[in-house]
Amino acid sequence: MSNRALEVVEFLLTAHLYSDNRSLDENDLPPRYRRVFWTEPSDDDETDDGEPNVVGIERPLVVTDSVARKATGVEHPWEAISDLLFTQREEFSGRISLTQPEMAIEWFLDRADRERLETNPTIAAAVEDRDGVDVTHAEAREQTRPIQADRVWIDSLLEEYFDEEEDAEMLDLVQVRAPEEIEMTLEDLVLTGDQEGEIHKLMQAIEHREYLAEIGLREIGKILFVGPPGTGKTTVSRALAHELGLPFVEVKLSMITSQYLGETAKNVEKTFEVAKRLSPCILFIDEFDSVAKTRRSDEHAALKRAVNTLLKSIDDISLIRDEVILIGATNHPDQLDAAAWRRFDEIVNFPKPDGQMRADILRIITRRMDIEDFDPDAVAERTEGLTGSDLRMVLREAVLEALTEDRMTLTQEDIVDAVEDFEERDNLKNMDMMSDGEQLVAGDGDGSHDHAHDHSHDH
Ligand SMILES: Nc1ncnc2c1ncn2[C@@H]1O[C@H](COP(=O)(O)OP(=O)(O)OP(=O)(O)O)[C@@H](O)[C@H]1O
Ligand SMILES: [Mg+2]
Repeated sequence: MSNRALEVVEFLLTAHLYSDNRSLDENDLPPRYRRVFWTEPSDDDETDDGEPNVVGIERPLVVTDSVARKATGVEHPWEAISDLLFTQREEFSGRISLTQPEMAIEWFLDRADRERLETNPTIAAAVEDRDGVDVTHAEAREQTRPIQADRVWIDSLLEEYFDEEEDAEMLDLVQVRAPEEIEMTLEDLVLTGDQEGEIHKLMQAIEHREYLAEIGLREIGKILFVGPPGTGKTTVSRALAHELGLPFVEVKLSMITSQYLGETAKNVEKTFEVAKRLSPCILFIDEFDSVAKTRRSDEHAALKRAVNTLLKSIDDISLIRDEVILIGATNHPDQLDAAAWRRFDEIVNFPKPDGQMRADILRIITRRMDIEDFDPDAVAERTEGLTGSDLRMVLREAVLEALTEDRMTLTQEDIVDAVEDFEERDNLKNMDMMSDGEQLVAGDGDGSHDHAHDHSHDH
């Protein structure tokens, strides 16, 4: 019997059992099935009292050829199961269903391995008491990703919340990622002992948040990541969302202020509102310094208001009450307001990696590359001062260089050359920055008037 038949029968069986058993909810369906049964919100979704209709997964779950194809990836689902005794297709509607569910269960249990049962809570619930079945419903639920991690779920919440045009603009400022979409995980990152400890502590705190609330400890879940560009602040935050199965709400404070300064306070408020709406989630505020700068007396009133709103919003949000984890990130801790600084209960340092870390990062980056005589320790030794992001760039250059010679196998020499190129480029960049402070552009009399239009010091 082909695996295709097993796929389709599992799907039919799941649809049947889920439709019948009202005590099951969305989290009992494997994520790949949820997606196809999700009903999208539409414009006439409002009921008389103005409340939006429930969108989600409605019973009964009706299976047709195209639905089954989407859910299972099997090209011709009905063909795969048409010779089984317990299946039928209605000519007119095209609906596929089970004529004898009990027979289908027996057939399925004879063929499905433990892993298949473990990832299908709906079927596990129906068969957990039978002889020879050693998977419980609770175990299967534990193994299955919660619906909060699904893109469809996040989109439906966002759509429900942002119906006005003005609000939709807000979504240009805030980026929301589903944990299923995050590619780099904690395993792909090289962390310092301190970073590992803090991440572990946070995960423990989240798990035991009810206990913490009981004993009156509420100051948790607000963390500030501090470190130079390219040291993994953003990537670690996203990886955390992936690890915890939480939506990731990302906002760059500079974007919020750059649009209209007068709107900044409102935009800050909205950002926190989005996070509360999507909770449980992680709210990641990048470039934290760009609003929370040390307050100067000559500062614009709108900016002052924005800072106050930001501080107040941080005060008002809580892991215990709102289930929002707040992570701030900054390259300029020196520019942070003391009042902002105080509001984080943990500060995590992201230093440039040391030699050992650089070697480990190189090993991870090159995991799937083919490199002759590769010596990551030697490369690490001569890349003092480079960040994880720099090392990635070095490897990318080495790969692209080799491709120009039609090679997909690299050599240690390619990498060393790429390091040299990178350092050269880095030198150029630094030279550029130094000359920026000069009144005249060296050796070039006519280009210098550009500086009259330089507004960069305004920011
Ligand atoms: N410790 C690390 N381990 C593995 N890879 C790393 C590490 N640090 C950085 N990288 C690589 O560098 C890339 C860029 O890192 P990331 O964007 O997270 O840095 P950042 O600290 O957020 O920088 P910025 O301050 O500019 O926003 C990551 O996608 C990752 O591939
Ligand atoms: Mg970043």
